[in-house]
Order: sequence, then structure tokens, then C-alpha cells
Amino acid sequence: MSELALFGGPPVKAKPFPAWPVHDERERAALSEVLDSGVWWRTPGTRVSAFESAFAAHHGARHGIAVTNGTHALEVAVAALGIGPGDEVLVPDSTFVATAGAVLSVGALPVLVDVHADSGCIDAELAASAIGPRTVAMIAVHMGGHPADLDALVELAGRAGIVMIEDCAHAHASRWRERPVGTHGALGTFSFQMSKLMTAGEGGIVITDDDDLARRLRSVHDCGRREGEWFYAHFEYGSNFRMTEWQAAVLSAQLERLDEQSRRRHANGVLLDELLGAVEGVTPQPLDARCTRNSHYAHISYLDSAAFAGVGCERLIEALVAEGVPNQAAYPPLHELDLFTSGAYRRRLMPGAAEESHPFLQAEFPGSVRAAREAFWVPQTALLGDAEDMEEIAVAFEKVRRHAGELA
Ligand SMILES: Cc1ncc(COP(=O)(O)O)c(C=O)c1O
Repeated sequence: MSELALFGGPPVKAKPFPAWPVHDERERAALSEVLDSGVWWRTPGTRVSAFESAFAAHHGARHGIAVTNGTHALEVAVAALGIGPGDEVLVPDSTFVATAGAVLSVGALPVLVDVHADSGCIDAELAASAIGPRTVAMIAVHMGGHPADLDALVELAGRAGIVMIEDCAHAHASRWRERPVGTHGALGTFSFQMSKLMTAGEGGIVITDDDDLARRLRSVHDCGRREGEWFYAHFEYGSNFRMTEWQAAVLSAQLERLDEQSRRRHANGVLLDELLGAVEGVTPQPLDARCTRNSHYAHISYLDSAAFAGVGCERLIEALVAEGVPNQAAYPPLHELDLFTSGAYRRRLMPGAAEESHPFLQAEFPGSVRAAREAFWVPQTALLGDAEDMEEIAVAFEKVRRHAGELA
């Protein structure tokens, strides 16, 4: 009989990984206080604003505007920046659809750019060559928690006179040259959805240092209101993207653990780099020396099927999961989504732009295709384990490699 767990053998991983979400009496007490206070929404409440200040301060930013989720954080950001019909925004081809969807939400065109083979984040050189007369902004996604090349992107944005948005949905407390993500461009957006590095089930926030931009973000997220003005005065188009006091109560407790948890994941990530790097055919996403903390939404490594008896990545993932190593599915490249291949995205564009040809969709995207087809993502929850957990992950990879012939 095969030793592989996929065929009935004993799995490598017997001890479970830590449970997620992490919570304790702090969340329970905070929720109970909200319940008893009778103030459940932000407008008369205090908890959302306290959380906004604390989260922004944790990242070294002056302002935080809490919203309903990470998708809305991006939508509020592009609207507050005044991006609209006729504009183009550079977006990495490898990301969750919301990064491009936010651009479409204001009638602008997301121009897809391939990602760098090492970081899996938007490639700065390709971004430079994708800039045209209508480009007004670019969105850098810090994939899996590892920052994009912020030196090159900040320099490019300055040179081209475009805005840099950081989509930090994976990267709470990650650092580039010791400076937290979300503060390198005009603004940073975060998600607090259940799988993210801190969570209230759903939630999001935008952080910025720019006072004027903060006012516009606040207005867009609250029906076009202005602080200090009459409740029924609406000065611009906005919608209701407000976070509730419940979410803020939970997130304030979660924030207290963020630093310790992200340090732990960074350290476990470094250990996994070493352990998995020693397995033939496995290449971890390299840690750029300028990334001084990778909070690791996922530990990403690439599998070379040649070293695994030519077995495809999908099958290898099945075998690894059976050994007890969790895998989080990588994103399909955006240019392959029906949204783009069917032309449905055009319905969001103004007449003229909708009929134009968009040649970037015919480009080759080897980086995002590899990221989708050859990567294994160990989720952040597993990285909260101990050194023994990391060693067992590596043992599972080595076991699957040794027995890969049986999977063919
Ligand atoms: C890179 C990225 N951006 C934005 C989002 C959207 O966040 P949310 O799910 O909170 O709407 C996600 C969520 O998975 C994401 O991975």
C-alpha cells in the first residue's frame, strides 16, 4: 500500500494548526459593552473612531476611515481620488477581482500588468511601459503580505505624475524598510474579512496622511456628508460604507494581537523558506532584504513539476492537503476571468472607451499564469503555529516529492 495519505497512508500532520479566528474575553467583553450601550452604529458611537485612530497609528498614518469591507475600501479610495470615466489605472493581473473591480466601479479602465516572478506583485518595469496619456493611478497589491517593490513604484509614480494606491488586504503590519505598508503611496486599503490577518468577519479601512484626502474619503463613505455639517446636508455623491460599532469593538481587540502575530508569522515564514528551500523542486517566494516584516497572509512557494515526477501542481496540492498541510487557492489571472474575456467589463466604461480595443488583454502574462498554476499557499493561520508545525510542513513536501511517481 502507498504511504501517501491520499491513498490511505498515515498523514504527516497529526497535530492541528492553531484555530482561527483567535479571540478571547477581550472580544466578548467589547461586544457585550456595545450591546448594553444601545449604540450600535458609528454615527453617535465612539468605537469606530477609536479603532480608526488606533489602526492608523499602528501603521504610522494620520487618518483612518473604517468601512464595510476591503472591496469598499478600494471603491471609496478611487472615488475620493476623483478617478472616473476616461481614466486608466494600472492593476496587477494577479490579485482578487476587487482590485480591478474598484476601478470599474467609477467607470475607469483597469489596465492589467503582469507581476514580477519573484514577488508576485506588480512588475515596476512593466508598469512603467504600460503608462499612457490617460493613466492617472496604479494599485500595488502586496501579495501574500510581501510588499511590492515600493522603491521603484514610488519613484515611478512621482516621475509619471500618477497616484499610487496600496492594496494591503494581505499585509496588515508588513514593513518595507521598517515603514509599515499603506503609507508609501497616497493611501492604503485593508480588509478585515474572515481569512485576513485580523477580522470581524467583514470590514475594511483606508489609511492616509493627507488631511484633504481624508476628508474626501470620509465624505464618500458617508453619503457625501461633511463633518460638523447638518445630517441631511450632502455635498457630493457618496454612499453608505460605514462600519458598525460591533465590528470596531471586535477589531480593536484583534489589533492588540496584530504585532505579536505578524512577528510570529514573519519568523515562521523565514523558517519555512529555509526548510522548503531545501526540498528539491520547491522555490519559496524570496524575501526581499528591504521587506523588514512580511506579515504573511500566506507563505507562497512554487512547485517545479519536473522534480515531482512530472506531476501537475493541482495533483501535488491534493497530495499535500491529504498530508495535513492546508493550501489556500491562488488567484486566477484577472485577464482569464469571464468579466474580461466576455467583454462584460466594457459595460462599466463610457461610450467611446467601451468600444475601443484594449490591447493589454492580448498580452502574455507569464508571471500571473505561473502564480495561478504553480504556487502553493500555506495560509496565515498555519503560520501562527510553532517550529514543529513548520518542520512537519517541510516533511510533508519531501514525502510527496519522494512518492510523486505514484501520483502520475
Ligand atoms: C488583494 C485583495 N484586495 C481586496 C480584497 C477585498 O476585500 P474584502 O473581501 O474585504 O472585500 C481582497 C479580499 O480577498 C484581496 O485579497
